[in-house]
Amino acid sequence: MSEPTRRLAGRLIGLGVTGSIAAYKAIELARRLVEEGAEVVAMLTPSATRFVAPLTFEALTRHAVDTDVLELLPDGRIGHIVVADAADAIVVAPATAHWLGAMAHGLAGDPVSAACLATKAPVVVAPAMDGDMYRHPATVANVARLREFGYRIVEPEVGPLASGQVGLGRLAELDRIVEAVVEAIGERPIRAPDPTLRPPLAAGPPRPEDLTGRRVVVTAGGTAEPIDPVRFIGNRSSGRMGIAVAEAALARGAEVTLIVGRIEVPPPEAAHVIQAETAADMAAAVYRAVLGPTAGATPDSTTEGPPLAPTSRAPAADVLVMAAAVADFRPARPAARKLPRSERLVLELEPTEDILAGLAERLADRPHRERPVVVAFAAETGDLGRAAAKLAAKGADFLVANDVLAPDAGFGVATNRVTIFAPDAPPEPWPLLPKREVAERILDRVVRLLDERSVQAGELAGAGRRDSSGNGGAHR
Ligand code: CTP
Repeated sequence: MSEPTRRLAGRLIGLGVTGSIAAYKAIELARRLVEEGAEVVAMLTPSATRFVAPLTFEALTRHAVDTDVLELLPDGRIGHIVVADAADAIVVAPATAHWLGAMAHGLAGDPVSAACLATKAPVVVAPAMDGDMYRHPATVANVARLREFGYRIVEPEVGPLASGQVGLGRLAELDRIVEAVVEAIGERPIRAPDPTLRPPLAAGPPRPEDLTGRRVVVTAGGTAEPIDPVRFIGNRSSGRMGIAVAEAALARGAEVTLIVGRIEVPPPEAAHVIQAETAADMAAAVYRAVLGPTAGATPDSTTEGPPLAPTSRAPAADVLVMAAAVADFRPARPAARKLPRSERLVLELEPTEDILAGLAERLADRPHRERPVVVAFAAETGDLGRAAAKLAAKGADFLVANDVLAPDAGFGVATNRVTIFAPDAPPEPWPLLPKREVAERILDRVVRLLDERSVQAGELAGAGRRDSSGNGGAHR
């Protein structure tokens, strides 16, 4: 199966919308640009806001919409200048006769013309208006002037117009506009790959409390494997992604156990927080939290996992989100005392337990519908080629992969750009999003999987025989 083309992946596109009846088509245009992989930031003239709501664009693009040339961004920057400096292209669709006139004369009274005046990016303009207006010498001169600026004009088409007449002036087909944007950008390098130079992302829509009554276990941060009592082998995980998932799950009504290694941000107070320094500690804590208290109660539970014998009870948790960066190797013989400086130090490392694989083994004899929903993460460097194989090896329901070398998607930053790998589905790349919104979308998927399991369990139990004590029917 061929993947959809994403010709604008990584690009920032400024979408200028002006006050024409065709403004409603700009909503679909925003969606198409996003589908092509672009990050889109919409700017509306005051009259455009009378045809279409800024909120619609905000929901589609995840960016605050600039409607007022005099208003600053929440972070104090000037919106139209940020777009001008960061956008790979600005597309104005639909462009009214009034806007063409203002632009031709450099009148920057609205955010769209202000951004166009200030930018060095290519500008694509798709006019839409009544046929007589489009043919008027004033409009013709204004369009010619815009061509002199180097703007690409996507000519309107013949078709039914708002006046009821049929004529030239209908906004060009969206395919043509998208094509013009792709062509205008061509092979130019991405202008502002650094997300801090781009307009800030808006938070996503609020979610319902759809995890009420659910027990969610989240791991976050990096493990530390001792070399001696002072030193350890660690990693750069900050814990932000896992903590964002824990916070989102709490807000959605879940009971959250958060198992943390080393973290740089405080965990939410409402979570039941368990510290797990090493991979072995984390393995024991995860098995106990997911499988139930007896599962972790081995004599030396910090170094050994629970017995493989399955418990007959349902798992203690409905969901495990394994966002922690767990060490794959640990010093085979950590020193009891601080190692003195010497010419050379050779450490022998031994592999740690693969927690997810171990859990899959412990859950192997349970029917699918009785297993917790398991989400794995994969931090890759470079391409995500190994992610699909990892999904299978980890026995997870889906895997969230990101390239930690990308400036906007790695350790210690507030945003993330991830691709979702699920069985029997093509990889699903998500746009650059705040980590909280990535967390919400992960949980949206988790909720769908939980619902599917509830339906399967319900079907099996037969109508009217629902388990009133457990998690079966209490949700949504
Ligand atoms: N993980 C785990 N136990 C480990 C190591 C990793 O359960 N000992 C989990 C991580 O929490 C993550 C997933 O497995 O959810 C993938 O982790 P990653 O480090 O990307 O994969 P590895 O299996 O460690 O493979 P590699 O190091 O070769 O990339």
